[in-house]
Amino acid sequence: MSHRFDTQCVHCGTHPDPVTGALSQPIYQTSTFAFRNADEGARRFKGEEEGYIYTRLGNPNHTAVEEKIALLEGGEAAAVAASGMGAISSVLWTALSSGDHVVAARAIYGCTHALMNHQFPRFGIETTFMNLTDLNAVKAAMRPNTKVIYCESPSNPTMEIADIAGLAKIAHEGNAILVVDNTYCTPVIQRPIELGADVVVHSATKYLNGHGDVIAGVAVGSREFIGRVKGEGLKDMTGATLSPFDAYLLLRGMKTMHVRVPRHCESAMKIARFLQGRPEVAETRYPGLDDYPQKALADKQMKYYGAMIAVELKGGYEAGKKFIDSTRLWTLAVSLGDAESLIQHPASMTHSALSDEEQAASGISKGLIRLSVGLEDPEDLIDDLKNAFAAI
Ligand SMILES: Cc1ncc(COP(=O)(O)O)c(C=O)c1O
Repeated sequence: MSHRFDTQCVHCGTHPDPVTGALSQPIYQTSTFAFRNADEGARRFKGEEEGYIYTRLGNPNHTAVEEKIALLEGGEAAAVAASGMGAISSVLWTALSSGDHVVAARAIYGCTHALMNHQFPRFGIETTFMNLTDLNAVKAAMRPNTKVIYCESPSNPTMEIADIAGLAKIAHEGNAILVVDNTYCTPVIQRPIELGADVVVHSATKYLNGHGDVIAGVAVGSREFIGRVKGEGLKDMTGATLSPFDAYLLLRGMKTMHVRVPRHCESAMKIARFLQGRPEVAETRYPGLDDYPQKALADKQMKYYGAMIAVELKGGYEAGKKFIDSTRLWTLAVSLGDAESLIQHPASMTHSALSDEEQAASGISKGLIRLSVGLEDPEDLIDDLKNAFAAI
């Protein structure tokens, strides 16, 4: 029987342990799995028989997370990885070969940008970074060798919304797949595969786990493509294997995602409205604000508006530094999606891998501050921001 989304968050992927009845899945903290005999080992290696071999190739704690996230994202299969970058690089190394071309959003997470901009050229892969909001420009940038269109929506840290359905159409008119990093949203907010995307990736470190105690990644897509990601990207190219204990923590976090994420978003809306009304703020970027330029597109593809906010202070970097040094309840730290609210400065922190020119081309100004709204009482968070404004 197929259940609704919230029930799937709680139940999917796990079953009481067949030996002990333990309701919470045990941690299979093992590197290898014993075969009953040589024939069984040979059959498993040939793929003729289901069963575990070695944790880099799969583990019951991985399987539980993979079943849950594949179902929640509406994909056929999923692969877990040791980090978001492990998932992203395993997907891209699987999809791309020397001579291929990528069309990527100009604003994406700093290390994803660095992978494409600094590392891919060494392997003969070219990337065109562009503002994906102009679909005609995207069409014009496509080449016969374009194999991947890559985006985040909303983008980290500039909050640009990508038209996922429009990009999927362009990718499929050509020879490409659309890969969407859904970290900022989770499937509670946005389900890119339903909109036409081929692959969804996550830094599961963020909202999927939600407790700031794990580094992990996932990729979701067709059974055929994810099979290749596991057999090529993860197994041979990155080896980015998630530890069974971290998979256990991630599964535990995902069970409450449908309760946590809407609460994060509700608080973010209050905080965005507060920031918008402050005289020290030049611009508040949050797709839920009525005058947000891409609100109509956000309404089309997002159920909530997320809990990430970008603000530009009138006083630029100097004011921003004083501001982030003055908060007490907001922790000055990178990452996002934790129960604790976090604040950081992308130009000198998460996106510092980009040169000044690359930051400018990506729309990341020196005065931009990124906020990840946590699960505290929003009024306490607002009081803390008021105190920080008083200090600049
Ligand atoms: C949108 C996005 N994608 C991917 C990553 C990389 O994830 P990880 O740090 O788990 O490798 C991050 C990390 O901040 C991110 O914000």
